[in-house]
Amino acid sequence: MRVLSGIQPSGRLHIGNYFGALRQHLALQEDNECLYFMASYHALTTVQDPGEMRQNTLDVALDYLTLGLDPTRTLLFRQQDVPEVTELTWIFSCVTPMGLLERAHSYKDKVGRGIMPNVGLFSYPILMAADILIYRSNLVPVGMDQKQHIEITRDIASKFNSRFGDIFPLPDGYILEETAVVPGVDGRKMSKSYGNEIEIFDEGSSLKRRVMSIVTDSTPVEEPKDPETSTPFLLLKLVSSPEEAEYWADRYRAGGMGYGEVKKRLLELLNEFFGPLRDRRRELARDSAYVEDVLRESGRKARSLAHQTMELVREATGFPISYRVPD
Ligand code: ADP
Ligand code: TRP
Repeated sequence: MRVLSGIQPSGRLHIGNYFGALRQHLALQEDNECLYFMASYHALTTVQDPGEMRQNTLDVALDYLTLGLDPTRTLLFRQQDVPEVTELTWIFSCVTPMGLLERAHSYKDKVGRGIMPNVGLFSYPILMAADILIYRSNLVPVGMDQKQHIEITRDIASKFNSRFGDIFPLPDGYILEETAVVPGVDGRKMSKSYGNEIEIFDEGSSLKRRVMSIVTDSTPVEEPKDPETSTPFLLLKLVSSPEEAEYWADRYRAGGMGYGEVKKRLLELLNEFFGPLRDRRRELARDSAYVEDVLRESGRKARSLAHQTMELVREATGFPISYRVPD
């Protein structure tokens, strides 16, 4: 099965990205042909500083490699290394009804928060459909917030197929229920755009401050509490053994437990979970030639797959390709 996903290089990756997406990306490498990329053109809708874009892109690549992406079997590349994706975006935009995009929650949320939308933000789901379909992908592992974008992708694929012939398989989303929405320090969905994230590779006093700042309710220490609506517990569950999660759930329900105690344990567990990988990340960060090699080589292979699809698409739409893609 061909698996594809993208992450925007719009900041450092957080544990919502890890448990909601990356962990599944890495697990799927075992039995599938996987393609993962930095969605830089998507990030351009909000990040418009070239230095920041370059740094973020490198950071995401380092995170993937540190956490276990195996470049001998999985492609890890930059979206812009496959320029055909933007060409397919245009072709798709000519079969996409405006109404389909006007209904997109993610766009409506951003406008609702007062962001002045650029056209890129509006047509974002078409670019995402092109990302997925240009590799004729079957499965797209993502967090819950991307569910609708995958439905839009299926709609676009169906519209194209019914007009021009059956070129694209309809991809399925792969969303793990338990980690579909990881909460941030303020209790809302963890997201770079809310500034409520805990970074995967944060450490020391900065990580401590972040964990201690998790917002909790004002139930007095002696009262029983509900673990399932409490951010420190929901985060702890991600990094603890099931037995330990059960222990804390019992402590919540019994009363007599302060939130400071859970936060302290959460901090320890985060350090145990991601701590050992910090040195590996620093080592990789020093070997920029290696990282660049992985990205360039993966990009070349991805582009060759994309080109094969574009030959079919261009033929089907009435303008066959009349040039060779340089190697
Ligand atoms: P952000 O919202 O921080 O900008 P992205 O949109 O770049 O994150 O998300 C990258 C991937 O991580 C997507 O597959 C997305 O669904 C997933 N993801 C992001 N935030 C969360 C979260 N809080 N819980 C679960 N998955 C998430
Ligand atoms: N929109 C996704 C996000 O914000 C990133 C993304 C871009 C993506 N293209 C994709 C995810 C293709 C999956 C498949 O998280």
